[in-house]
Formats: sequence, structure tokens, C-alpha cells
Amino acid sequence: MPEFLNIKNLDAGYGRSQVLFGVNMAVPPRGGVAVLGRNGAGKSTLMKAIVGELAAWKGGLQFDGQDIGGRRTEQRVRAGIGYVPQENSVFARLSVRDNLAVGSLLHPDGSAVDRVMSMFPKLGQRLDQPAGTLSGGERKMLAIGRAMLGKPKLLLLDEPTEGVWIGVIEEICERLVELAGEIAIIIVEQHLDLAMRVAEHAYVLDRGRVALSGPSQELRNDPRLLTYLAP
Ligand SMILES: Nc1ncnc2c1ncn2[C@@H]1O[C@H](COP(=O)(O)OP(=O)(O)OP(=O)(O)O)[C@@H](O)[C@H]1O
Ligand SMILES: [Mg+2]
Repeated sequence: MPEFLNIKNLDAGYGRSQVLFGVNMAVPPRGGVAVLGRNGAGKSTLMKAIVGELAAWKGGLQFDGQDIGGRRTEQRVRAGIGYVPQENSVFARLSVRDNLAVGSLLHPDGSAVDRVMSMFPKLGQRLDQPAGTLSGGERKMLAIGRAMLGKPKLLLLDEPTEGVWIGVIEEICERLVELAGEIAIIIVEQHLDLAMRVAEHAYVLDRGRVALSGPSQELRNDPRLLTYLAP
């Protein structure tokens, strides 16, 4: 399959502190790619650099045939990149309904909201509740649903099951597996089994560098994987 997102030799960081070093990554137009690595490895920083919340210091970003490296976040979102950040992924004071309305601004059509409701029926019972009062799992569902309303071709998910009760994790995982059949997904995930169910390919970051990459099943059996994930 042709590459859909292509990251070449990406350096990025905050202030003068460099976090990502020469990251290369290729994402096909459909299916999941997992980004793994211990706390502080640079996973969220990589997501921010892809969506443009953080400007790359160096390197290339090609998405859907376009060079997006110099583009602002808004332009990248319009080009088809959806982003569910690790933290503050919903507007806490807005109701579920209004969070979804904000998500629909790019593509205002009711059918997309219906689709989110059928994807996560629990949200339908909570439409008037402030998003800040949702459970961890409901909040993640809302964040994913809201990102889907932008009709992304590539969805970045930064720890979509963090703080989510185990029983709900399975429900979210099933939805993500379905989504990965339609669009491209990059998932940062601590639960290895979940990551590998959603993603056929995985990249392991170690101190801001790609230490390992390859088909998930091969990585799963690679003894080096656990050394890179161990604290
Ligand atoms: N806004 C910031 N300003 C300065 N340094 C930052 C900022 N955000 C992150 N960092 C630093 O960049 C490094 C990578 O952080 P990042 O959040 O990308 O890691 P991560 O792999 O997502 O970790 P986690 O698994 O804990 O979410 C860390 O050393 C972190 O302290
Ligand atoms: Mg992170």
C-alpha cells in the first residue's frame, strides 16, 4: 500500500530541549499503527508534531500527497487529520451535545452525529450532561466521537484508554478495530494487547528515537520490546 503519512528525519522539542531525534515513520491509508514506549519517550510529542501543535525543528511531513510540515494545525485538520489528545480532550464545561456540535463545525451534517451515537450508545443518554462530569470511559468516547465528526482520514489517538475502567476498554477497542478498517489510525497505547489488536504495525520510541519498528506480531515476540518498555 502507498504511504499516506510519511515522516522523515523529524526532530522536535520544547524550548531548547530536544525530545524527538530523526524519527522516521510511514503510515498506510487504512489500518492502525501503534506508537509504544515508556513514560517520557516522546510519544505525545510525536502526536503534537504530526498535528502541528508543535512545530518540527527539522525533517519532512508528507500527508495525503501534500507537504504539511509548514502548515498550521487548522490546515492539517482540514486536510483530514483528527487528534484526540492525551489530556483535556473534551470541553469540560460544555454538554456532550455541545462538544459534538463543536466537532461538527467542519462538516455540519446530522448523520455524522447519529453515527457517533450508534458507535457509542452510552453518549446518547448523556447529551445534556457537562462533559467534565462524565466517567473516564465516557469522556474518551466523547473525545473519539468528536474527532470523528471532523471526518478525518487519519486519526491520532493519544492513550485512548488511559483512566478507563477495564470493562469499557474492550468496548472502545472494538470500535477502534472497526475504525481501522476504514481510515488510518495512529494509536499511543500502554495496553500492549489492545495496541496490537488495533495496529498491524508498531513503532517503539526510546528517548525520542525509533528503537524498533515492524509488524506488531513480530514485535510482540521480540525480546527487545520489553526492555524498551520497562521503566
Ligand atoms: N510542554 C513541554 N515543555 C517542556 N518539556 C516537555 C513538554 N511536554 C513534554 N515535555 C518533555 O518531553 C519529553 C517527552 O514527553 P512526552 O509527553 O512526549 O512523553 P510520552 O512518551 O507521551 O510520555 P507518557 O507516556 O508519560 O505520556 C519528557 O521529558 C517531557 O518532560
Ligand atoms: Mg504521552
